[in-house]
Amino acid sequence: MENLDQIVARAQAEFLAAADAAQLEQAKARYLGKSGCISELFKALGKLSAEDKKSAGAPINQAKQTVEAALEARREALKAAQLEAQLAAEALDVTLPGRGNPQGGLHPVTRTLERIEALFRSIGFDVADGPEIETDWHNFTALNTPEKHPARSMHDTFYIENAPEVLLRTHTSPVQIRYMQAHVERHRGAAVMPPIRIIAPGRVYRVDSDATHSPMFHQVEGLWVGEGVSFADLKGVVADFLRSFFETDELSVRFRPSFFPFTEPSAEIDVGFISGALKGRWLEIAGCGMVHPNVLRHGGVDPERYTGFAFGFGPDRLAMLRYGVNDLRLFFEGDLRFLSQFR
Ligand code: FA5
Ligand code: MG
Repeated sequence: MENLDQIVARAQAEFLAAADAAQLEQAKARYLGKSGCISELFKALGKLSAEDKKSAGAPINQAKQTVEAALEARREALKAAQLEAQLAAEALDVTLPGRGNPQGGLHPVTRTLERIEALFRSIGFDVADGPEIETDWHNFTALNTPEKHPARSMHDTFYIENAPEVLLRTHTSPVQIRYMQAHVERHRGAAVMPPIRIIAPGRVYRVDSDATHSPMFHQVEGLWVGEGVSFADLKGVVADFLRSFFETDELSVRFRPSFFPFTEPSAEIDVGFISGALKGRWLEIAGCGMVHPNVLRHGGVDPERYTGFAFGFGPDRLAMLRYGVNDLRLFFEGDLRFLSQFR
């Protein structure tokens, strides 16, 4: 038969082998439970005489205490191990980089448009707009470009199938017509028509794509019509605007004689690159001129009494110059690696 020391050793080994509290409780039952082997030993004492009970009971008691101590020690050890595991599972690695809180920003072309609007508002211009799906009449005919006129081929127009009367506007100049008509209507019957002084920023469309041309791009139309408005006013407004826009007086600007059906005389405005990759190159940023009498007439304005100038800027190109970007298409590809540089 197993002696007491063997029982104690077996109990200690089983307690140590218990992997968790439940297994430990099962092991405990096998020794200290109602019919555990130590409890059975105590029961057996009942059959002995009082004398023998004393001498046989003492070592069993001793063994019981040793087993209880082993149980308690294993309980503590399991508890400590569980706490350790929990702490390890919930550990925070404070050396990891933060996730950050990414911030959006305005698109560089939007910022450029807002800047242009602010500068023109500061010298008394209103901001107007018109539809991007335009009639052929507003986009061309009213702008002194009748059907079959060769000047129409200067614009590579997106037409709409089965709708020959509408197109995607190729420039913001049709806003000139729409605004003049509305303005004249508003002031019908007045002795003097108050001057028209507007810019009209917006999207325009052409079948065109290279480093300085995009099929969708922006223009900012300008129109000033009143008594005695001259080409000198045009040059002054444009030169002042460009110096303010680029925040420098040292700007190369030239007015290059050109042709538009809706202005006479006409010019193209070029800006010289002062630094950067395109240094020494000229980039055309606008067309301009004195509004053609036929255009004033289509707008309902008397060309015998009023004169005016108009211009059409390419703000995408102004943004290229201001931010030193050498391919205009980058603005419209939506690549965050590019766009996030302008936050
Ligand atoms: C016009 O569109 C005329 N409506 C401008 C005008 C208005 C002249 C009023 C006279 C009076 P043009 O086709 O040159 O002109 O375009 C004007 C400007 O738009 C150009 O100088 C250029 O800066 C910009 N532009 C033209 N095509 C593109 C394109 N595909 N991508 C980006 N910018 C363009
Ligand atoms: Mg041009």
